[in-house]
Amino acid sequence: MKNTIINLKNITKRFKVGDGEFTALNNINLNFQKGEFAGFVGPSGSGKTTLLNIIGSLDSPSEGQALVMGKDVAKLSHRESADLRNYHIGFIFQVYNLLPVYTVYENVEFALLLQNHTKAERHKMVMEALDWVGLTDLADKKPDRISGGEGQRVAIARAMVKRPEILIADEPTANLDAENAHIILKMMKRLNDELNTTFLFSTHDEKVMQYMERIVHLRDGEVEKDSIIVAEKDK
Ligand SMILES: Nc1ncnc2c1ncn2[C@@H]1O[C@H](COP(=O)(O)OP(=O)(O)OP(=O)(O)O)[C@@H](O)[C@H]1O
Ligand SMILES: [Mg+2]
Repeated sequence: MKNTIINLKNITKRFKVGDGEFTALNNINLNFQKGEFAGFVGPSGSGKTTLLNIIGSLDSPSEGQALVMGKDVAKLSHRESADLRNYHIGFIFQVYNLLPVYTVYENVEFALLLQNHTKAERHKMVMEALDWVGLTDLADKKPDRISGGEGQRVAIARAMVKRPEILIADEPTANLDAENAHIILKMMKRLNDELNTTFLFSTHDEKVMQYMERIVHLRDGEVEKDSIIVAEKDK
C-alpha cells in the first residue's frame, strides 16, 4: 500500500535580496511515499537545500503547501515544528557538527535528551544506533580521535537513534572519500530497508546517485525531471 508521507503542492519560495526578491523555488509539486530512498540533484543554486529545509520544517514556503506527515509546516507553532523535528525527522549534513567535548556515545544520546526516556532506555537506544553504523567500539572516544568517515557514521547514528520517519541528508558525502561514501550509503540503504525510514538526499555525487531509487532533478527552482530508478517495493 502506498502511503504518502510528504505532499508538496505548488511550493514557491522567494528570498528578499536587497530591494528585490529572488525566486529560489517555483511551483514545485511532488509527493513522496513512506520508505522512499530519493535524491534531489541539480546545479548549485537550483534549490535543493531550500526544498529540504522546507520539508524538514526548518523553513516555510512563500506560497503553496508543504504537508509533512499530514501537517502543514507553515501552520505549525514554534513548539509543534520543534516536536516534528525532535521526534519524526532526522538530519545529516555535509559537516557533521559533532560536539567536540562529548564522547561519541554522548553525541548520539544528545538527540534523545529532548524526548522522555529513562537513562537505561537511552543507553539501549544509543548502543543499538551505534551498532547500526558499526561503531559500538568507539562509544567512549571523543570526535577528534575518530576519522571523517567514522564521524559521518556517528552523525547517522545521531540522526537515526530516535527512529525518525524521515531522514534528510544534505550532501552527506561531500567531505568523504569514495570508500567511505559507499560505506555510509550502504548503511543508510540498510536502515531504509529495515526501519522503512523515508530518506531524502541532496547530492552532486555520482556515487550517491547510483544508490537512489528515485532522482528528482531541479533546475532554477523547478522540477526538470523526476525519475523512478527501481520500481516501488510492494508495501
Ligand atoms: N536565505 C537566503 N537568502 C537569499 N537567497 C537565498 C537564501 N537561501 C538560498 N538562497 C538562494 O536560493 C537559491 C537556491 O539555494 P539552495 O541553497 O537551495 O541551492 P542548492 O541547490 O542547495 O545549491 P548547492 O548545490 O550549492 O548546495 C540560490 O540562488 C541561493 O543563493
Ligand atoms: Mg545545498
